[in-house]
Amino acid sequence: MPHFISKTPFCQTNCRHNDLYIMEYLVNAQFKNLRILPVMYDNQIIFIRCIERKDGFLYKVDKLTKPNNLLKIKEILQFLSKDLEVLTHNLHQTNTKHTKGTQTGFLINQVNLTDIKPDLIEIGFGSGRHILDLARNNPNKIILGIEIHAPSIRQVLNSIEIYNLKNLYICNFDARLVIQVFESRSVEIIYLHFPIPWNNAKHRRVVNRDFLENSFRILKSNGYINLRSDDLEYVRDCIDEVLTANIAHFEVKKNGIPKIISKYEQRWKNMHKDIYELHLFQQNLQEIHTNEQLSHFDFPMKLDDLGIFCNQKWIDKTNSVFISIGDLYYSDSHAQHKISVAQITFGSFYVPFNTFLVLEENKSLHYLKYPLNINSHRLAHKFLCGILTETKLHCKKFQQEKQKKEKVK
Ligand SMILES: C[S@@+](CC[C@H](N)C(=O)[O-])C[C@H]1O[C@@H](n2cnc3c(N)ncnc32)[C@H](O)[C@@H]1O
Repeated sequence: MPHFISKTPFCQTNCRHNDLYIMEYLVNAQFKNLRILPVMYDNQIIFIRCIERKDGFLYKVDKLTKPNNLLKIKEILQFLSKDLEVLTHNLHQTNTKHTKGTQTGFLINQVNLTDIKPDLIEIGFGSGRHILDLARNNPNKIILGIEIHAPSIRQVLNSIEIYNLKNLYICNFDARLVIQVFESRSVEIIYLHFPIPWNNAKHRRVVNRDFLENSFRILKSNGYINLRSDDLEYVRDCIDEVLTANIAHFEVKKNGIPKIISKYEQRWKNMHKDIYELHLFQQNLQEIHTNEQLSHFDFPMKLDDLGIFCNQKWIDKTNSVFISIGDLYYSDSHAQHKISVAQITFGSFYVPFNTFLVLEENKSLHYLKYPLNINSHRLAHKFLCGILTETKLHCKKFQQEKQKKEKVK
């Protein structure tokens, strides 16, 4: 990951440089050697972490706010380091397949995800051989690729430009969440080729009961899931799941010849492994709850302090959601615009969502990166609002009692 270590820290905060706006440092409430430098560009904020160490000041991008475009991160770090005595860095600009992928017009974020009405979805497209072929051969269909591996995303974004594709969109998010966003009965096929089997940690798999139900909800009545895998245990578990739940019928083929051989398929073929293809068609599915209910994830209350909620966890067992709030970072007393932020992880236990809570000077609260309009996020947000209100009331009562006691003394 791009980084540099300088002898002294970057100090020209609260300034604009071309398309960048460098805000003021936020200091960790517990560890004063940890700071965050928010940088705004292109209507988004990324956090640069600054860690004071014995050998100098280490600057690197915060993982949660990391943009897809590595060249942009390098450009920002180069700007921060340009007048500093740099001890070590890895900021040479190289235009390789790993640093390209700057044509972000086809990269979908959680805000405009619902604007896309995909006909075909591929989950975990990796090097992109299959999804690119799909897009080139189906110019009249809207195709969405969902992937969590940043280099694969950059590589496919590049190819979108090279092949001048207009119908392929990419979403950098966990597919188990994204699949919950789309309208019922709208998608024709969901492709899942060579998912990681996770046989020793099955809760990490893409396919589970929730995923199947959500997929069947968004699939058209004749739509299906197309799974290819070399892992017989994975395929058997999928069949078991749909048979137990009685929600699908299926077809299985062994060692059929696909139109396009993906990178992983080629790897397993070279090792003479058997390849299974499973088509899962929904059946007996009751009209599952649709996702039409909208939520804007606002906070109705004003807060004085975020610190009282930090480094704590809450679990709502009834709705199977949890909330965990991490360290507090706040603007120092000289800052012109004072805010405080804390990392928050929430949602369902197996597919948590990470973002930051931002408390503004006017006491209003918002998320840095917005949750998805899906059931687990709506429940977690409601749970969070309850906690914030209750804790706030509790603290107010505690303060009032303390003041009363002091008066009596
Ligand atoms: C074994 S690779 C297969 C890549 C490609 N389909 C192929 O056949 O060559 C699995 C891919 O799934 C992606 N992946 C794993 N979990 C995912 C998730 N929850 N959501 C989206 N993509 C995921 C990984 O990043 C990886 O690129």
